[in-house]
Amino acid sequence: MSIWGSVLRTKDVDTVIHQNDPTADGEESSGLSKRLSARDLTGFGIGIVIGTGIFTLTGIEAKNHAGPAIVISFAIAGVVSMLAALCYAELAAAVPTAGSSYTYAYTTIGELFAWIIAWDLILEFALGAAVVSRGWSAYLQDSLGLPTGLFGESAPVNVGAVLIAAVLGVVAAIGIRESKWVTNALVLLKVSVCIFVIVAGLFFMKAANLMPFVPPSKPSTDDKTGLALPLWQWISGVEPTSFGIAGVLVAAAVVFFAYSGFEAVANLGEETENPGRDMPRGLIGTLVICTALYLLVCLVLTGMVNFADLSEGAPISDAFHQVGLGWAGILIGLAAVAGLSSVILVDIVAMGRIGYALCRDGLLPASVGKIHPKFRTPTRITIVTTVAVCLLGAFVPLSTLAEMVSIGTLFAFVVVSIAVAVLRRTEPKMKRPFRTPSVPLLPIVSAASCIALMASLAVDTWIRFLVWLVIGLVVYFGYGRTHSVLNRPDVDDAVAAADR
Ligand code: ALA
Repeated sequence: MSIWGSVLRTKDVDTVIHQNDPTADGEESSGLSKRLSARDLTGFGIGIVIGTGIFTLTGIEAKNHAGPAIVISFAIAGVVSMLAALCYAELAAAVPTAGSSYTYAYTTIGELFAWIIAWDLILEFALGAAVVSRGWSAYLQDSLGLPTGLFGESAPVNVGAVLIAAVLGVVAAIGIRESKWVTNALVLLKVSVCIFVIVAGLFFMKAANLMPFVPPSKPSTDDKTGLALPLWQWISGVEPTSFGIAGVLVAAAVVFFAYSGFEAVANLGEETENPGRDMPRGLIGTLVICTALYLLVCLVLTGMVNFADLSEGAPISDAFHQVGLGWAGILIGLAAVAGLSSVILVDIVAMGRIGYALCRDGLLPASVGKIHPKFRTPTRITIVTTVAVCLLGAFVPLSTLAEMVSIGTLFAFVVVSIAVAVLRRTEPKMKRPFRTPSVPLLPIVSAASCIALMASLAVDTWIRFLVWLVIGLVVYFGYGRTHSVLNRPDVDDAVAAADR
């Protein structure tokens, strides 16, 4: 087969939909077990979404770019995420699969693009878990006064980050049921703390702190130059400014990180009891709840303390210290530690599902993606992922990596938005339990707004992202293209080829 023929080959949608069906004699298939409900999916979603974004980025961005209008920045990022969620909901309900956007691309634009997406998701989830495990280590060090030689950003080997990633890797490998219990407990705690911040903080709000709501624009105090500049500024040569409308938009691109991860819910399609009904509920429910909590927390926070006095490290707990409620500050700090744990756990669980899908399709060695007979999880790939996350968490500083999580997420959103519109044309008769409204307008607006946010990310983030994609191409042409199940006519199972 020609190179173009192979890289553009697609999977048959029907085959993907039925690849995890029970066998003819009524046995559950050898795949993942179906145990999750809409509530569990929402729990997973909130578990991965609420984390470093709201607990730290809020302070940094309100103080440096948006002022009280950080609320608007969060609203913009929330709308962009909601547009993508509406696209994910259609595909996740119609094609419930562990591969999520990877499989959606496989059924629409072809194998090479699917591989690029998977490679991109590996970046998002593995790096996300590593970044957050370093954040976890720093919060714990700060809350309990642990030694800085072992915990936090100044440690030469971040032992705290390695410990938390290793423990949660074991939880993820033992089973989805256990992951679910741990995540649900942590989510409950995290949501309770957000509600506590909103209700208790209300009593300390002062209208004067919210004036002017959009502080006037002024020259940027960031000492960013060259490749550290946002792509659009680097290209256009426009002088960077802080505050004003431009400041609100820059902050929106940065706080987008706070919403990243909700799409991991779509990776649990094969483990969901009734995906057609529950996937849209899980995805949209996650975003509605998180957006509401984020907007209220931002409003209360900037109402409690003047934005110029916000802490950049632990803004929410510090705000309570500033208004004289020190005990609440400590409580919130510890809850942040718990909250970050669930982000790491769901990242690792999602990574396992993507790896499983890649191995099943032959793009990575099948032996790595085997399902454990007792735990019913992709144990080996989960362990491999966890080791990688531990190494990244031990040695790589988090500051430059967080933006890479955002660029990876936004790229996947662009592809999923396009896939919705393409599938409507190529598979008009496919059963769609949930339909994205206003196709193709909504997917086009969704893709365009994601690209706009990507343009606000730094040039060096773009360069690292492109380098990662090139490495992915080398792996694909060196292994995946020839080992792909679609390239092996002897394999007559779930993944029959429908060559273009
Ligand atoms: N959305 C996640 C967070 O804010 C990644 O930590």
